[in-house]
Amino acid sequence: MKVMIGADHGGYALKQTIVRFLQEQGHEVHDAGTHGTEACDYNDAAKDVALAVRAGTVERGILICGTGVGMSIQANKFQGIRAALVSDVYTAEATRAHNDSNILTMGGRVVGEGLALKIVATWINTPFSGEARHARRIAKLENNQ
Ligand code: RB5
Repeated sequence: MKVMIGADHGGYALKQTIVRFLQEQGHEVHDAGTHGTEACDYNDAAKDVALAVRAGTVERGILICGTGVGMSIQANKFQGIRAALVSDVYTAEATRAHNDSNILTMGGRVVGEGLALKIVATWINTPFSGEARHARRIAKLENNQ
């Protein structure tokens, strides 16, 4: 799968770990930065990843900041983006099956590395259920804009 990942300084360390993990799993990873620990605005990586997902350049996006909140708010400003802030494995699975989320956001200061990789693996590997009630609700999300 083609996945684009971005972070701010609060998510940089976890991003590096996730990049390696996804590459080891055979995924094609596009790194939108940031490329160091110097403070930067989460908005910029969120925009780059959201636009790439929306354009279909990549199938999914992952965004990491300190809490994951700024990234999720920013990414969800873009029509067609369904960004899910996740800090547990149950939600990682449910948000793929029910919401067909196309961006995963996490907090690099919230989740530990082991849990984060379980979340990523679950989120990447869980398909959308395709059930009519979930498709109807997603259509309502899109029509709201
Ligand atoms: C940066 O200090 C922090 O505010 C940012 O990484 C993120 O948590 C915002 O939502």
